[in-house]
Amino acid sequence: MNNLVITTGLRNSEKVEDLALELSNKLKLPYLPREKQSLESIRQRASAESIILVNNNRLSLVTNGMELFFHPGLAKLRIKELQAGKTDQMISAMALSEGKTVLDCTLGIASDAIVASYIAGSLGTVVGIEASIAVAEIVSRGLKNYHGERPELLDAMRRINVVQGDHLEYLRQLPDNCFDIVYFDPMFRKPREQSSSMAPLRPFANSNPLSPDAVNEARRVAKHRVVMKENRFSQEFKRLNFHTIQGGRYSPVAYGIIHKVVADNEIP
Ligand SMILES: C[S@@+](CC[C@H](N)C(=O)[O-])C[C@H]1O[C@@H](n2cnc3c(N)ncnc32)[C@H](O)[C@@H]1O
Repeated sequence: MNNLVITTGLRNSEKVEDLALELSNKLKLPYLPREKQSLESIRQRASAESIILVNNNRLSLVTNGMELFFHPGLAKLRIKELQAGKTDQMISAMALSEGKTVLDCTLGIASDAIVASYIAGSLGTVVGIEASIAVAEIVSRGLKNYHGERPELLDAMRRINVVQGDHLEYLRQLPDNCFDIVYFDPMFRKPREQSSSMAPLRPFANSNPLSPDAVNEARRVAKHRVVMKENRFSQEFKRLNFHTIQGGRYSPVAYGIIHKVVADNEIP
């Protein structure tokens, strides 16, 4: 993993310092008091590549001038479009509806998980697995504490269970058919140029290709389908045996589907 150090914003309080210390103990990372130093000098003193920055209202990860923090913006937009009756390609690929259970094996900044949680509703379940310790911490705190949005968005966020770890290890411990849908959105083999929302995540993300073992485990764990998001023309669909591919006609991304059940209209 990227070497990390924890510090606070310039204007901090005792509460912020306590949180920085708590994180330092929990994540086993060094904490350097800010003491009016620049972030660059903190980074150099700690010989770190990146900084976990603790402020009054948010936690963020800073690398090379880029800042990664939790924000439900993208999910909010997609939920608005769903409410206006538009199609969300991920939701269609998952054939997701109220009450279903989703295992998101690549949580990232949780945009997809929030949209899935909104549709699955309070009768459904969304569990998100994230390999990066720092990303999992920032996102799980954000999902729990972010406020100032409409209740249906906040409820969808609060319902997501975050697990920090490797998805293959997690999948191996699960019984057969225990989630309706298992979802993968690995870091694209070829990053999309316009995907600026992924740029600050990249230094922390596990960028390994999705393994055939993980897909096989997902197939065992999923009751209905396994879904993978990738670049529209990616060879990953073929390599990992996702034979059905769907997505918006003009979208640069597509969703590969492995059906566990013969046809959707046969799903109870
Ligand atoms: C493209 S991002 C996912 C973005 C996410 N779908 C969203 O809406 O924000 C991929 C994420 O999956 C994580 N990841 C990759 N391999 C993983 C693994 N084996 N186990 C758990 N997380 C993994 C990466 O660290 C990264 O945060």
